[in-house]
Amino acid sequence: MSDDGKVMLSEKDQPQRWCNILPFLPEPIKPYLSPQTMKPATPDELRVLFPMELIKQEFSSEEYIEIPDDVLQLYRIYRPSPLVRAHRLEKALGTPARIYYKNESVSPAGSHKANTSIPQAYYNKQEGVKRLVTETGAGQWGSALSLAGALLGDMEIKVYMVRVSYQQKPYRSILMRTWGASVVPSPSDQTQSGRALLATDPNHPGSLGIAISEAVEEVATRKERDSHYALGSVLNHVLLHQTIIGEEALKQFALIGEKPDVLVGCVGGGSNFGGFVIPFAKEKLLGRRDVRILAVEPAACPTLTKGIFAFDYGDEAKLGPVAEMYTLGHDFIPSGIHAGGLRYHGDSPLISMLKKHNVIEAVAHNQLDVFEAAQLFARTEGIVVAPETAHAVKSAIEEALKAKARNERKVIAFCLSGHGNFDMAAYDDYLAGKLENHVHPEEKIAEALHRLPIVNA
Ligand SMILES: Cc1ncc(COP(=O)(O)O)c(C=O)c1O
Repeated sequence: MSDDGKVMLSEKDQPQRWCNILPFLPEPIKPYLSPQTMKPATPDELRVLFPMELIKQEFSSEEYIEIPDDVLQLYRIYRPSPLVRAHRLEKALGTPARIYYKNESVSPAGSHKANTSIPQAYYNKQEGVKRLVTETGAGQWGSALSLAGALLGDMEIKVYMVRVSYQQKPYRSILMRTWGASVVPSPSDQTQSGRALLATDPNHPGSLGIAISEAVEEVATRKERDSHYALGSVLNHVLLHQTIIGEEALKQFALIGEKPDVLVGCVGGGSNFGGFVIPFAKEKLLGRRDVRILAVEPAACPTLTKGIFAFDYGDEAKLGPVAEMYTLGHDFIPSGIHAGGLRYHGDSPLISMLKKHNVIEAVAHNQLDVFEAAQLFARTEGIVVAPETAHAVKSAIEEALKAKARNERKVIAFCLSGHGNFDMAAYDDYLAGKLENHVHPEEKIAEALHRLPIVNA
């Protein structure tokens, strides 16, 4: 047990490899399908979008993958990240539980997303690709890729940013441009899919699914053939890179002789949650560790708690690969909750498989409860967390209060995926009493079933 505030790893103890859970899954993940043929996607189809090294990682059967030295060097700008004991929150709750958080907000971009943007930019550059196109919802992923482009150097980054976020969060796009990226509100007039939507509504608010379609379309149709696409969540290789979080946490808990009983993380596409829990989930699957693992999502976008496990398109215009996962339907437009990064209709196939086999549990929270938890965290621990992260904070508090009611000295650990310093408009709305709860209605889920692709896999 630790009474210290922070558990730090020295740079020389930094883990040197990522943890791949694919060989340990209770059931293999089904191959991605081509949206055109509904047959397994060929390597050539994926090659249009990604460098070979990332495609290899996507399907690797190796238990560990070595992190390249250049990537480790760049990680050291902000890693290893601290594991922090939330003493003041514990005291405020009067709980006998010990609460820890792994603080991923310490990256220059403010979130865990840099853990994958750096290796993605690195592998592309190794293959000679110096132009990356991506989408961003709330702006965290776009910022992280822009940062990676700047750190690697000689790399052009273009970001399609969901229009409503572009308007609500001007500082995020300024940050991206400061790092040298170009940022376009989506839907835009630069792609066919964007133009079609603008024709129906010139002020279309956009969605993550639409922005993904625009980025994929640009890469696939660009005459110069000089660009690749980069995705900030969902895919296996993204979660793989994020396991640096859990690998460090394993070492940090070992250092203080502490074993977490409950691990908590928020889930949009599943990357911070996966990155934090996968090294522990692997041990659980191997029967070496007993730990509850809790995925937290918004009630307005309840993919794991109310979605359907099925093949679905990853994006609105059906251009990207089709994957088997929990989904609310690819044309689902979530209500405008402030946790923009959790407003995705699908989920990582890997996390979906862990959920299907009950290796992990899932829970959904309402927006107001989530902001109340974030406010308590800010007033006790000092950090104003991102609205996405606030979902994990809410569940950690709930678990700590359960432990209090049962007088149990549980160890609860959550992933603090990012800070909310650019989310002041959201906090302003909360403080002004303007926030509302949004719950995704059951009939919408049933309706979405009819629009899933028909697959004979
Ligand atoms: C701070 C933060 N946490 C969590 C998420 C959710 O994404 P993921 O589930 O891939 O971690 C996002 C997405 O933008 C984010 O910005």
